Amino acid sequence: MSDMQINPLSEALGAEVIGVNVGEFDEAAFDKIHDAFLEYQVLVFRNQNLPPDRQVSFARRFGELDIHVQKESALPGHEEIQILSTKKIDGKYVGSPSAGDNWHSDLSYSDLPTLCSMLYAMEIPEEGGDTEWANMYTAYETLSDEMKRQLDGLHARHTYNRFRNPRVEVPEVYKGQGKQRYADIAPPDAIHPVVRTHPETGRKALYISERFTIGIEELPEEDGQALLDELIAHQKQRDFIYRHKWDQHDLTIWDNRCLIHLACGGVPEGQIRHMHRVIVRGDKPF
Ligand code: OGA
Ligand code: MN
Repeated sequence: MSDMQINPLSEALGAEVIGVNVGEFDEAAFDKIHDAFLEYQVLVFRNQNLPPDRQVSFARRFGELDIHVQKESALPGHEEIQILSTKKIDGKYVGSPSAGDNWHSDLSYSDLPTLCSMLYAMEIPEEGGDTEWANMYTAYETLSDEMKRQLDGLHARHTYNRFRNPRVEVPEVYKGQGKQRYADIAPPDAIHPVVRTHPETGRKALYISERFTIGIEELPEEDGQALLDELIAHQKQRDFIYRHKWDQHDLTIWDNRCLIHLACGGVPEGQIRHMHRVIVRGDKPF
């Protein structure tokens, strides 16, 4: 384990961890990885051999796993693993084809949002399919003092239901299933602070996103939307972002408490991007 190396990937965030096989390290090595996770927010492990059980047991070292509401995209026999895929069998997608196509933090629409997510690349297309992460510590820290004061004590409403969010589109594949699909599987709205404090680092991070945030509780509707527009434009600045171009058998893990992320899309029709995803439940944001 002495040859473990941690190399930063960009000015914004992210590091690659070289010289380890996920699932084979002891407590001391895990502590080092955990420290790097808190410091860099996204870690990339390359060339991993990660059968479902191994991915699940690695994720469990970070906490209790969650099961995604979109149950039809679970890996058969492994309900904790969700398939993200452009693959179709008999005209039907084998996993979720559109997960993450607007900026978001995983499961911010639930009472106990995701601490970290882990995504493993099984098959990678020749073109497209990148992922971007943006640093929400920096997004908060670069706000004006006046804006920071304005956000103090504000709470935002988050929903899974795309039909209730004018900032996002409903993918064709779900439009056909009608509004009931979201009404059926969406949990009740969640209310979280607009600025959250990371429970481990103690740092403040902006905690809203275009995919899930639909209003500010303490403000009249129009004022809340104007404020969200301003914050959403601010949080996606290039300087805050690391863009990952996947290789087959990359594993990434990211801290949803201090970043937002985006599936960049652009995979040509017929090309396959096939990923296994696991999510670890976090605490109630404060
Ligand atoms: C996710 C997600 C982005 C991607 O798995 O939570 O947003 O690029 N994925 O697949
Ligand atoms: Mn996501």
